[in-house]
Amino acid sequence: MKKTILFIGLFSTKLLCAQNQIVLNADKGKDIIDKNIYGHFAEHLGHCIYGGFYVGDTNKVIPHKDGVRLDVINALKKLKVPVLRWPGGCFADTYHWRDGVGTKKERPSMLNIWWGNVKEDNSFGTNEFLNMCELLGAEPYLSGNVGSGTPQELADWVKYTTHPNGSSPMTDLRQQYGRPNPWKVKFWGLGNEAWGCGGNMKVEYYANVYRQYATFMTNWNNSDRLYRIASGASDADYHWTEVLMKELPANMFDALGLHHYSVINWSKKGSATKFSEEEYFTTMKRALLMEELVTKHSAIMDKYDPQKKKHLAVDEWGGWYDVEPGTNGAFLFQQNTMRDAMIAGATLNIFNNHCDRVKMANLAQIINVLQAVILTKEEKMILTPTYHVMEMYNVHQDATMLPLEVTSNKYILGKDTLTAVWASASKDKNGATHISLVNIDAGKPQSVSINVNGANYRSVTGRILTSDKIQNYNSFENPNKIIPAVYNGAQLSGSKLNVNIPPFSVVVLELK
Ligand code: AHR
Repeated sequence: MKKTILFIGLFSTKLLCAQNQIVLNADKGKDIIDKNIYGHFAEHLGHCIYGGFYVGDTNKVIPHKDGVRLDVINALKKLKVPVLRWPGGCFADTYHWRDGVGTKKERPSMLNIWWGNVKEDNSFGTNEFLNMCELLGAEPYLSGNVGSGTPQELADWVKYTTHPNGSSPMTDLRQQYGRPNPWKVKFWGLGNEAWGCGGNMKVEYYANVYRQYATFMTNWNNSDRLYRIASGASDADYHWTEVLMKELPANMFDALGLHHYSVINWSKKGSATKFSEEEYFTTMKRALLMEELVTKHSAIMDKYDPQKKKHLAVDEWGGWYDVEPGTNGAFLFQQNTMRDAMIAGATLNIFNNHCDRVKMANLAQIINVLQAVILTKEEKMILTPTYHVMEMYNVHQDATMLPLEVTSNKYILGKDTLTAVWASASKDKNGATHISLVNIDAGKPQSVSINVNGANYRSVTGRILTSDKIQNYNSFENPNKIIPAVYNGAQLSGSKLNVNIPPFSVVVLELK
């Protein structure tokens, strides 16, 4: 009897202290991690555009170029933002682009019905956005109005932005408004959340509407092909993906969207900064569902497109909590803690590992809205923990994904468990390998033993993002409370790499 107890005791201790194991297959890289997985999203919502990006071209206090904040542009350049989705979101299906071009005086005002009924004066429109993307070095992703627009309106937007000078009344208009040459606009969304704020359509109906819009939305006169993205499923709506794959002609689309937010409960989201471990655990459970969503939506796409020519664009993702006390409930302004760093780190690892199908993702949203990378308050600007994860991970952009075999401990809370360690790896164009590791466990460090196959590394360096409380965040008073630090917790010995990751931390290693 005693022996049995001793055996069970030893066994359970071993389980609790078991080392996480990772096999790095350094010679099995095949797929490229599309840089657009590190994309962002900017909607006319709260202070994302107005106050966040754009402070007006007559502003005397905040340094700007044509009204676009230079502090924000400089910070975003360090992230290497590859693609930026605009103007929504729900706003996109109420937006008429002709209202936002021409002299500012000519532009009519409208009410932003989705986001607080505030006045939208259209002072930030197509020219401002596309010029800003050029300044930022990011590709624009225009989200077209299918819900309340017309095929003609969207076809005209394509002409206005991309057709050669002198080829249509739309290109004449562009010239009249100060831009003779087209911009480069490859990415086009045909509606947003067509199942909801984009028109409450059934997928069978949307598939037909999509075909109609896509027919006229081409760049016949331009050698750069458009990349058309259909409004995709919400979360686990696999029927939506199935019908689109069945009904959309292959030559009419390039990707299907997918939206998934990490929300505890839509009617009780909870504070962004004051949360219990139970709430943290639930948020992470929602975030990690992304692994299953991407796997299952991809499996449906595989049935129709085994060669993976059609892509998944996760064009809205991130954490969603209650707004900060005292702020407008429709503006979705929330603080950003180490919990958000965990969402970002784990989710980006999931996207990297699924880079054969996931070719774009857009974090919602870039400034002052939901899981933002930047928060602004008049002339002040702060970088959030999510910003730092994005910056640390930008080494993966356009690198070759190296497959990992991960055996992870569990993060246990009560009777529920989650995988504790989330990882991905890639090899960049200069031959350096990067491994990004996240330990989502709120209480326990994780020691990880990595066996390297197919490469001989001589050195390892690293950076870490961590803090002493998971509720910690950067504030306007203390903007650098959470910033990446040099990490010395990795030891390389032959083909073995041992790493210790503190609780709720993100580590990015460079191996050469
Ligand atoms: O990102 C905020 C909103 O969430 C978007 O406008 C909409 O597409 C989604 O429901």
